[in-house]
Amino acid sequence: MKQFRETIAVTGGAGFIGSHLVKRLVKNYPDKLIVNIDALTYAGNLENLKEIESMPNYVFEKADICDPEAIREIFARHRPDGVIHLAAESHVDRSIADPLAFVRTNVIGTINLLQAARELWESMPERYEGKKFHHVSTDEVYGALEPGDGLLFEETTRYQPHSPYSASKASSDHFVRAWHDTYGMPTLVTNCSNNYGPNQFPEKLIPLFINNIRNRRPLPVYGKGENIRDWLYVEDHASALDKVYHEGAPGSTYNIGGNNEWRNIDLVKELIRVVDSELGNPEGTSLDLITYVTDRKGHDLRYAIDASKIERELGWTPATDFPEGLRKTVRWYLDNSEWLENVTSGAYADYYERMYRNR
Ligand code: NAD
Ligand code: TYD
Repeated sequence: MKQFRETIAVTGGAGFIGSHLVKRLVKNYPDKLIVNIDALTYAGNLENLKEIESMPNYVFEKADICDPEAIREIFARHRPDGVIHLAAESHVDRSIADPLAFVRTNVIGTINLLQAARELWESMPERYEGKKFHHVSTDEVYGALEPGDGLLFEETTRYQPHSPYSASKASSDHFVRAWHDTYGMPTLVTNCSNNYGPNQFPEKLIPLFINNIRNRRPLPVYGKGENIRDWLYVEDHASALDKVYHEGAPGSTYNIGGNNEWRNIDLVKELIRVVDSELGNPEGTSLDLITYVTDRKGHDLRYAIDASKIERELGWTPATDFPEGLRKTVRWYLDNSEWLENVTSGAYADYYERMYRNR
């Protein structure tokens, strides 16, 4: 008899969003086995998963999604009923410096997973019955909006990616839909706006700036700081993914967003206000750290999401309001300076060696 009612493979579960999702699934579904597949690149950190690593319904598999043999072998052993795919190269600036790494993981890696899932599921008597492949993507595939134009990205908005990162994610979205349309695989695609919260690698705006304020280092604002992003608390993204994976209609796409647009410079000033207050500094202490630097190449002006479909069809809305989420986030980084030191020094990389090698 099967010990677990269902097995879900999550890729990229040691990363920022993936680790919040894995923790949520492991805790909320003790009758489901969660298999975390992650290559542990610079962005993967098993310390993020400490609190669930010894739970009976959690397994970690170190593997590169671009390695077909490794993925095939893991799928043959665990026979997942579903895949939630988050593993990716995720930082726009890195994609500008090294686009091929993004094609490799985000495009080739996704195709490898689709093929491994297809091979497994088509070999089963029930084939695709009860199976799901959920691809986690970004709103950046839709391109950019103009500030003040009142428009929002909808699920039907034309794809118009600009950066190598968003182009690679757009490509992977198309491949996932192709596996639905061609082979009948039950797929789901979600496109989410910018996430923030604990455990985000400090190369992204919010954790980078909290770390820099903490160390009294300059805060490099690209261009004039006029670009606009929609921010969603990471645990709300995890709850939306849980909802879509379990209740979404196969073949569908859902946009996920926070209905929370900020101009970068306004967000940076708000962040400074919160960090200074948490550090006990007089208001305005860290404003002098703001440093305008050369703009990012091809910098998208505005992202904004219409998340009414997921609300209407699945009843999901964000639970965390921005002031609360931002303060919790700031508190977490200030209270976890060791985590920040480890990821910035690279010391986190030997956690796998220490924890898993001799098991
Ligand atoms: P992240 O960079 O924090 O984590 C990525 C994870 O994938 C890491 O654990 C890394 O080790 C793993 N990984 C990378 N390459 C791999 C490979 N070849 N094989 C196996 N594992 C590999 O990313 P994140 O911010 O948590 O984003 C997760 C997903 O969500 C991505 O697909 C991203 O495109 C998407 N997304 C992110 C945001 C955001 O604001 N961060 C918003 C919308 C969508
Ligand atoms: P980022 O966190 O890299 O997310 P994304 O590029 O996926 O939206 O950046 C968020 C915004 O902040 C984006 O408009 C770029 C800007 N930014 C800076 O101004 N300075 C920085 O050092 C970083 C990392 C980002």
